[in-house]
Amino acid sequence: MANKVVVLGSINVDTTYHVERFPQPGETISAKSKSSAPGGKGANQAVAAVRSGAQTSFVGAVGSDNEGSYMLEALKENNIDVHHIMVDKYHGTGTAAITLDANGQNDIMIYGGANQAMTTDVLAGIEDVLDGADFLISQFETPQEVTLAAFKLAKEHGVTTILNPAPAHDIIPELLSYTDVIAPNESECALLTGIEVADEESMLKSAEYFQKRGVKHLLITLGSRGVFYATPEGHGLVPAFKVKAVDTTAAGDTFIGALSSQLKDDLSNVADALVYAQRASSLTVQQMGAMPSIPTADKVKAALAEK
Ligand code: RIB
Ligand code: NA
Repeated sequence: MANKVVVLGSINVDTTYHVERFPQPGETISAKSKSSAPGGKGANQAVAAVRSGAQTSFVGAVGSDNEGSYMLEALKENNIDVHHIMVDKYHGTGTAAITLDANGQNDIMIYGGANQAMTTDVLAGIEDVLDGADFLISQFETPQEVTLAAFKLAKEHGVTTILNPAPAHDIIPELLSYTDVIAPNESECALLTGIEVADEESMLKSAEYFQKRGVKHLLITLGSRGVFYATPEGHGLVPAFKVKAVDTTAAGDTFIGALSSQLKDDLSNVADALVYAQRASSLTVQQMGAMPSIPTADKVKAALAEK
């Protein structure tokens, strides 16, 4: 049976400026071209989950503007349940300005808008989607107080919580006690623990740090080196697939969403699920844009069969 996933998070309209190189402070440069696509870490993760077969609901907010309608349509077209997305009359829909250089490197500036203005009001009635859900996923593009309240509700409903602490930010310590799985990259992990991620020993120390604070499972994404996992049952490194990246936007989001579609909520199949999730994100980096580049299960399975 398909996993049931709830994503609490951000919704952005992304505008990507394609440049040869990044501008220097104070410098004006011209973009070769510009493109726009649906994005936002939360929305991308939900789309990755649903395209990999999960039954997916979203909890979040958009503004009462054209971008908001565009994003609601985009999520609905992907068969995501949007009935817990609030329309905020006072704040605009979140946006992201992305600069993408000739090497496929990006810089992102986000405007939080309705995402940042979100309060626990958005959680009213979400028991209907938490009921029977396998996972509740959240990130750091929406207020942590809302995530904390949602994770508490999730725990009452026996739902496994996944925190993707991105973009890098300090954490409300209490949030860790309601987090079952934490999935940072190296720098996000180091910021939270104060332990530099270097070798296996440092990653095991990081896992111990989180376990002491109530987080059972740690997944550190290491870019081209793969993903390190540590659960109470064991640890290991699942290598990444080597591909040529044209645009890494939403690679991390694809990883999280695709993972949630495959993972058992006790994490007993974590190594296999990590192979699938990394294959999915290796496809995302080979296409332009956030949401448009997120693969379906068919594409991921075909790529896995190629090897
Ligand atoms: O993780 C990628 C996303 O980060 C983009 O879609 C952009 O909206 C920013 O939120
Ligand atoms: Na992409």
